[in-house]
Order: sequence, then C-alpha cells, then structure tokens
Amino acid sequence: MRVGIIGSGGREHSICHALNKSKKITQLYCFPGNAGTSKIAKNIIINLDDFDELKKIIIQNNIDLIVVGPEKPLVDGIVDFLEENNIKVFGPNKIASQLEGSKIFTKNLCKKYNIPTAKFGIFENLHDAEIFTNKAKYPLVIKADGLASGKGVFICDNTNEAKNAIKEVFDGKFGKAKNILIEEFLKGEEMSFFVITDGKTIKNFETAQDHKRVSEGDKGKNTGGMGAYSPSRLINKDLEAKILKKIILPTIHGLNEINTVYKGFLYVGLMIVNNEPYLIEYNVRMGDPECQTILPKLETDLLDIFLACCNGTLDKTEIKWQDKKSLCVVLCSKGYPENFQKNILIKDLNKLKLNKNEYCYHAGTKIDDNKIYSIGGRVLNFVSLSSDFNECRNNIHKLLELLNWKDGFFRKDIGYKVINK
Ligand code: AMP
Ligand code: GLY
Repeated sequence: MRVGIIGSGGREHSICHALNKSKKITQLYCFPGNAGTSKIAKNIIINLDDFDELKKIIIQNNIDLIVVGPEKPLVDGIVDFLEENNIKVFGPNKIASQLEGSKIFTKNLCKKYNIPTAKFGIFENLHDAEIFTNKAKYPLVIKADGLASGKGVFICDNTNEAKNAIKEVFDGKFGKAKNILIEEFLKGEEMSFFVITDGKTIKNFETAQDHKRVSEGDKGKNTGGMGAYSPSRLINKDLEAKILKKIILPTIHGLNEINTVYKGFLYVGLMIVNNEPYLIEYNVRMGDPECQTILPKLETDLLDIFLACCNGTLDKTEIKWQDKKSLCVVLCSKGYPENFQKNILIKDLNKLKLNKNEYCYHAGTKIDDNKIYSIGGRVLNFVSLSSDFNECRNNIHKLLELLNWKDGFFRKDIGYKVINK
C-alpha cells in the first residue's frame, strides 16, 4: 500500500516511523514532512490549503490512504473533500472536527449531554463580558472560540487581567471573534486520555501527561509541549470507566444525533479533581509530543488500525501495547517559544547510536546536502522506553549530552511528578 501523511512535526515523523514497520506498506509520502521523514518517506512540498493540488498528487502517485496529523486541515474539511473524491482518509470530518475547532461547540455539547466540564458562560460582546468579570470569582479562564495554536486561553487572577484578555479576543488577536467563552477555573491535575474510533467502537490509545510551559517547574510561557510521559500517574480502572461513560460516549452519541460519525484519534484533555474527570478540551488528533511518547509502545501494526477505522471494523482489531514507561524530551531552538533562529546546523546527529528502546523523532528540521538544519522552535524529540521513568530520562539526557547542540535547550525536569530523586 501507498500511504501519505499530512504534517511536518514530530508527531508525523513518529506516525511515519510506526507505519514504516508495516509489511504492507510499499511507499510512504509526507506532505511536507521534515528531515526525519525524508529518510523513510518521500517528502512532497505543498501548500496544505490547496486541497485540489493535494488531490492531484494523491491520484498521480496512486496513494491508497491519507493520514492527517494536525488539526488545521481537519477543521478546514480535508477529510470531507478527500472522501468526496473517493480517497480513503484517516481523520474526523469537518463537523466532528468542531470539537477542536470551536470551544463553544464543545461546551454546548457538554451542556446538552451533561458532560462534566468547568461551568461557563458565552458572551457576545465586550460590554456584557466585562460586566460579568466585575462580580466573578477568580481565577477565571477566558478563551477565544476558534483554533489559536494553544494561545487563546487566559488564566486571569483579577478583573484587570480579565478585561485585557477579553479586549484582546474581541480585537481579533485570534481571528475574528463573534463571542467569547468565560469559564470557572478548575483546580486539579491535568491528564490526556487518547482514544481511536471508527464511530462505533472506541479503543483506548493510552494516556499521557505533558509539560506545556517552557521553563522548569512548569513556569514561563506556554508552548506546544516541552515533553511528556506515558502512562499518566492518575489513570486507574475506575477513572477510565468514568471518562468513557461520562465524557467520551455521550460526545460520540451527541455527534451521531447530528448525523456525524467520528473517525480518527480523539485527544481528551482532562482535569482530574479527586478521581473525577472534567473535560477541559478536545483535540481531534494525536497530541504532539504525546504521539511520539505513546507510539513506540504500540505492538499492533498501525496501518491495520487506521484501515480498520476507515472500514468500520475496529471491533475486530485488537490493539496491543508494551507494558513499559515512556518519556519524551523536546529539544528546542534557543529563544522558543518567542523569537528563535532558524537554519542552524545540527552537526553531531549521526554520532548518536540509538538502542531499540530509544527514538529520535524530527520536528522542525530540514535536510540540505545531507546536513540537518533546524527550521522550527521545537526541533528534535528524544524518547526512551523502560520499566522506570527515571531511567528513561537518564537515557535521554545521555543522548542529549552526546549531541551537545549549543543552539538548543531542553527542560531537564520532564516527568518530575513521576520521578522521585
Ligand atoms: P485549552 O487550550 O482549553 O486546553 O487550555 C490550555 C490550558 O489552560 C489547559 O491545558 C489548562 O492548563 C488550562 N485551562 C484551560 N481551561 C481551564 C479551566 N477551566 N480550569 C483550569 N485550567 C484550565
Ligand atoms: N501537547 C499538546 C497538544 O498537542 O495539543
């Protein structure tokens, strides 16, 4: 089979890497991919907003299946477009992708089906939102409705902060805003729960906890994710059953009621308060770097799982996992998440000798004349599997020392909550 992966990050490299193990694959393509994917797939540079061009290339190359990594093409309706053109594609359609594309869509679904989530209000103008903030309890969470690359969420400690946040949203910093979401602040511990579904059968795709802040001790600016570990320390059978029953099943049911079938990965972002799950957000894709953290544990052929989702036969596919801990550290370019330099040589990458439990996934990299350069903020993802989180992290730190990339930095404390030193 010929399979194409859409995206260019560490998530997509890890998906490519897992698919490459499948004996059924004859050729992988990546749109546009990175230096890492170029070793196992054919990278094709393309404007991902140009669905017609993509369709042309898929047909020219006889690609049998498309796997969509990031949220934007999903929210833009790439799945509907490809399916209308009889191209097999793994990922949710445009309406189902509203679970990530519109926080207000999700909140309204929660309200209708009694799904546990933070109490909220939706405000259609600056004036009403501001009046509300005058008498609200703090902290208060203010959110832009649409996709904002993780930036449209403000945790406000007082009225002033809340008013500034509301103004930024209505001023259009995250795209034209018709309304704004204001939420109660939930105090607990966050956990990410992943499932994969064909719309009928829902299968567990492991848990993880990530570190979104740039500095050690979970301080500083928000990023796409500086590292993650799997499984989450919070998961237990009782909690898992509650997440399925109270959150995921009513969501899939709610989508069915509007004639939508959810097919793909579903990333359930939760706040756990006293072993009770509250939905914070849905993402309609795998997490990055959670995907890189989780996929190395997968024993089942990933292609079989994707095909089962597309064909509606997930009930017949058993998903097997290695019983190991996994930890991922993201190597970033200095300055990330603000200004960072690009096109910096990473010269000692081929010095690294990875054993079978170690992985180095590329994110913001390019290859030029056989040399690897950084082109993004998050550059490389190092993953290690072991029976012990501390050992995972030590193994990764050894690799990072060997690489000794002077223009990069990483958080040394990834997984501190599960590592007792
Ligand atoms: P979101 O993009 O909705 O996941 O929000 C980004 C981050 O803001 C989450 O990962 C949480 O750390 C935090 N957050 C969002 N909503 C809430 C809430 N209601 N209570 C507490 N923290 C929240
Ligand atoms: N690591 C967070 C995300 O993928 O949204």
